[in-house]
Amino acid sequence: MYVCLCRAVTDADIRQAADEGVADVHQLVETLGVGTNCGACLEAARSIIDARSAADRLAYAA
Ligand code: FES
Repeated sequence: MYVCLCRAVTDADIRQAADEGVADVHQLVETLGVGTNCGACLEAARSIIDARSAADRLAYAA
C-alpha cells in the first residue's frame, strides 16, 4: 500500500529500509524522501518504522 503518494513510497519500501538499518522517521525522510512534499504521510510512516523498531527490539530480547 502506498504510504507516501507524493514520493510513491509503500509500506514495503519502509520495511525494507528498516531491514537495511533505517531506525526512525528522520532517517526515513533522508533515505526515501517520505514527507518531503506535502507531509501528510509522516505520521503513517512514523507508525510503520516505530512498530518495526519495536518488533526488532523484542526479537533481540527473546
Ligand atoms: S504524501 Fe508523502 S509527502 Fe505527500
